[in-house]
Amino acid sequence: MDLESHQFILFFESEQAAELCQRATVENFTNQTILFEEGEKPDFLYLVLTGRVEFRKKLGTNQFQTLATALPNGYFGELGIFDGQPRSAQAIVYGGTTLAKIERLDLMAVINNTKGSVVVKLFNYTIQRLRASTEAYVKQLVYKERMVLMGEMLNTVIHDLNSPLIGIHLSSSVLKEVHSDSETAQWCDLIQAQAQRISAMTEDLLEFAQGNTILHKQPLNLAQNLQRFQQLNGVYLQEAQVELVIQAEDIVVNADENKLMRVWQNLVTNAVESFNGHGGLVEIKVSQKEQQVKIEITDNGPGIPEVIRDRLFESFVTYGKGTGTGLGTAIAKSIIDAHGGQISFESYAQQGTTFYISLPWEAKALIRS
Ligand SMILES: Nc1ncnc2c1ncn2[C@@H]1O[C@H](COP(=O)(O)OP(=O)(O)OP(=O)(O)O)[C@@H](O)[C@H]1O
Ligand SMILES: [Mg+2]
Repeated sequence: MDLESHQFILFFESEQAAELCQRATVENFTNQTILFEEGEKPDFLYLVLTGRVEFRKKLGTNQFQTLATALPNGYFGELGIFDGQPRSAQAIVYGGTTLAKIERLDLMAVINNTKGSVVVKLFNYTIQRLRASTEAYVKQLVYKERMVLMGEMLNTVIHDLNSPLIGIHLSSSVLKEVHSDSETAQWCDLIQAQAQRISAMTEDLLEFAQGNTILHKQPLNLAQNLQRFQQLNGVYLQEAQVELVIQAEDIVVNADENKLMRVWQNLVTNAVESFNGHGGLVEIKVSQKEQQVKIEITDNGPGIPEVIRDRLFESFVTYGKGTGTGLGTAIAKSIIDAHGGQISFESYAQQGTTFYISLPWEAKALIRS
């Protein structure tokens, strides 16, 4: 959109509007540019002409909570300009974005000479925005509270789980020694691997509740990783009458093996649960395009319920399951984000769902382990 037809400019009388346009500088910003950080001194008012800007608070390493979004015809930064207080959140650009920037002193000079009706319009807009961000903030407080509770609960669970897990581990080791045939050994290895996964999963859940996703990256062959995933889930899939088809090229990424397993687990479990005992098909395809590795996870289930599609990746969003905590996709997203990747989905009622994941591919990850 043109700067001249931006709502902020239209608040003013034509002479002052022209003066503001003259004083403004229009700039293009690339995806992920940080315009300002929380705590910085305010220097500009920004008018959005094209694209999108998000305001977010840091929750932990690589984890952010988005509080508000500014779209074309919106503006931001005026609060700091008026009261001189530091920025209350980080502002980051999404996609290619064009902004007009007006310097604090320039803006104050124009506003000091303006009519009361203009100030009222400015106030109305600011109040609306404050209302929206207060609501988002309250939502975030409730979210944090739930996370703290979950963290406390998990600490107890992890503690209590330890002894039975050690028991399972020891018993299967003894069983393996007593019955030395290869089939028993194979099943015992599987039991031990699953016990190991239970303790890793609870630790990961605790990390997530604390807002920390700590990665232990290493060169990882995705085809092998997915084969292992399939093997670990053999019994589960068979019982649910679900066919899992994996088409993976021999691609090596620099990633955290256990965490990626968690992503496959959460998404495939969702697909299996959506079949509701009737069986179905899940396909995982892995391919590479230049510096990106693409992973598609498709099922032919009933599709993600429309009412939750917009908020699917938020924590505690669950639908139609008595036992769902609504954390599976939120955890998957936090892991993909921590790897510098992206996750999205397409879903059609009665046809199925595809999750699209992209991970950055670095040449140095090709050194095989
Ligand atoms: N592949 C899918 N097909 C149909 N619905 C899905 C699919 N994946 C997710 N959903 C829907 O999205 C909701 C949220 O999924 P998510 O994994 O985040 O939480 P959950 O499965 O409810 O609980 P949790 O994973 O914590 O046990 C699910 O309750 C389900 O209604
Ligand atoms: Mg789930």
